[in-house]
Amino acid sequence: MKDWLCVGRAEEIDKPGDFMAFCIMGEPIVVTRNHAGAIQAFANVCAHRGVGVAGGAGNTGEFMCPYHGWLYDLDGRLLGAPYMKDAEGFDPKTCRLPPIQCGTWQGWVFVNFDAGAIPLVDYVADWDRKLGFLHMERCRLADKLVFEIDCN
Ligand code: FES
Repeated sequence: MKDWLCVGRAEEIDKPGDFMAFCIMGEPIVVTRNHAGAIQAFANVCAHRGVGVAGGAGNTGEFMCPYHGWLYDLDGRLLGAPYMKDAEGFDPKTCRLPPIQCGTWQGWVFVNFDAGAIPLVDYVADWDRKLGFLHMERCRLADKLVFEIDCN
């Protein structure tokens, strides 16, 4: 949970609004591309009662929680929370999808659950020296196989 983990290719979420949701070590996350083109990752956990707000992969303008309809934008900010305006002490500005560190290297998307992790650019510096000549940023995903394995 402290290393940078490769979770896919940038072209899988090529357009603004594209997203992919999955679990890593039991932790639900959603990776999105926002309207400005930035790739970001969030815990796929509604700030209300923890239900996942995204499933599978696709394209959307926002994420609506299926439980009580809380609505989040592509940057994880809470846009709306039905029936909460009269709730005592409720401050929508403090509610959002929790961000997870995210970055790309040569078209690969990485996440890191450790907010204090070294920057991805430093983590991959040695790979850049050894593998940069491959120019994997030019590659495009042709097929995808999913395996579930017990490993670290
Ligand atoms: S759990 Fe998401 S809106 Fe209630």
